[in-house]
Amino acid sequence: MPTPQGYRHDFHPVMSKLSLDRILQSQGFGTRKYCRKLVADGDVNIAGAIFTDNHASIETDGLEFAVFGEPHRYREHLYIALNKPANYECSRKPSHHPGVLSLLPEQFIRRDVQPVGRLDHDTTGLLLMSDDGAFIHAQSSPRRHIPKVYVATTHDAVTPELVMQLLGGVKLHDEPAPLAAVTCNILGAHQLKIVLEQGKYHQVKRMLAAAGNHCTALRRSQIGGLKLDTLCLAEGEWCYLDEEQLALLTPG
Ligand code: URA
Repeated sequence: MPTPQGYRHDFHPVMSKLSLDRILQSQGFGTRKYCRKLVADGDVNIAGAIFTDNHASIETDGLEFAVFGEPHRYREHLYIALNKPANYECSRKPSHHPGVLSLLPEQFIRRDVQPVGRLDHDTTGLLLMSDDGAFIHAQSSPRRHIPKVYVATTHDAVTPELVMQLLGGVKLHDEPAPLAAVTCNILGAHQLKIVLEQGKYHQVKRMLAAAGNHCTALRRSQIGGLKLDTLCLAEGEWCYLDEEQLALLTPG
């Protein structure tokens, strides 16, 4: 639930009981009719035994089950981290490249999972995804000041003057006030680590351009305290985020 401080995840919801077909539907397995058939046909296991009763009420909290032998855990909501590869669009209706949703299981799409904010099609790295509207809203809110860490590769060599400009703030077209990096460090001759708290359109690329350089590659390596490297995801891979990892996204 949203709170004055921000968003708190409720991983221990009020115990709720549902019939198995409704549970399967809520988890994205298909229509109620299809899920009822899965159960009736004996395709669903609970605790190692086939469960064919579509009428019994089952406790969802902590429920583990298998469909066609594949194990699943009941999740009221999905919280996912994806290591986004280049040449994937975050849009729900991608036009020039495949969408990031195509990297996720069909079930998640049926649950209406969406990217939390957007990365450009050529930007790689950490992208959060969820089907929890309150989480997406809170996480995208500019009022929360969640730092996002980017590693930018530049065309021209980086200089201390460039760093000073980015820290001092640069004026972007359509932005009323100059935008500044929270921190900015030189990583190499053509590489900067830039931390931003806003999420304006093409912000890193436009800030570098406004400071007289050009971004040739961009990777998001961290959101809040959640570091992509700690998730050990190859490009294109995703993982569920647990309670501890989600807590790292909450400032303070
Ligand atoms: N800044 C950009 O320019 N592009 C991104 O994808 C993210 C931040």
